[in-house]
Amino acid sequence: MVDPAAPILIFDSGVGGLTVLAEVRKLLPDAPVIYVADEAALPYGDKTEAEIAARVCGLLGRLAERYHPRLICIACNTASTIALGMVRDVLETPIVGTVPAIKPAAENTQSGVIGLLGTTATIRQAYVDKLEAEFATGKTLLRHAAPELVGAAELKLRGGTPDPAIFERAAQGLLSQPGGESIDTVVLACTHFPLLADELSAAFGEKVKFVDGAQGIARRIHYLTQGQAFARQDQDFAIVTGDEHNHSNLAGTLQTYGICGIRSL
Ligand code: DGL
Repeated sequence: MVDPAAPILIFDSGVGGLTVLAEVRKLLPDAPVIYVADEAALPYGDKTEAEIAARVCGLLGRLAERYHPRLICIACNTASTIALGMVRDVLETPIVGTVPAIKPAAENTQSGVIGLLGTTATIRQAYVDKLEAEFATGKTLLRHAAPELVGAAELKLRGGTPDPAIFERAAQGLLSQPGGESIDTVVLACTHFPLLADELSAAFGEKVKFVDGAQGIARRIHYLTQGQAFARQDQDFAIVTGDEHNHSNLAGTLQTYGICGIRSL
């Protein structure tokens, strides 16, 4: 029997996982949530596989021991495509990961040419090759690493205005590849990127549609917690690693996602 006050822990390197939290709120408004942002190690996308795996396994192990979540969601494509299997091996808590939404993109495309924007680490993963082989045979999948978008999303959620050239570079990184002019669907394979949907839409133009995994992940969490009771005993809060000065300007944004207060690890 699951403790009704046991939280769902949503984990990302930064603010990207809020795109998943927003969808979880729609399906499970009464679920207690702890949002974890590993800002001390952001960006994950520029790190090696070994660094990411060690960091994610270590951090989630500590958090599971301390907060006894009923479920952990790794709301980060980079961490999931590298460390999902390892985290599942070491923790008994159910783990829901985030993988690039290649399947829905392949179902939606009319032109047969799909773009994928992710971090440098995500786009080189064998996991992505596997998804492509499984779901996008007969289609063309063009990949581009757009690490600058991570910083742009972090800045936007702290009230800043990112340089529009960042979005142009991301769009051109796909559209200028051979065959890129036929892209009609782009997979936002980093949870930070849907936070920039308006800016990306302006850069790619109207004919390009975006897909991401957030709704699918929320449905999976809903399914796995079916029949469980939820009773929030306290306000939801965030745990943010790293420099506290960098956190204070996030408090207002977190509040709009129902996260009241920031704690250190
Ligand atoms: N939000 C993360 C993802 O979904 C990556 C951001 C980072 O590079 O830390 O891939």
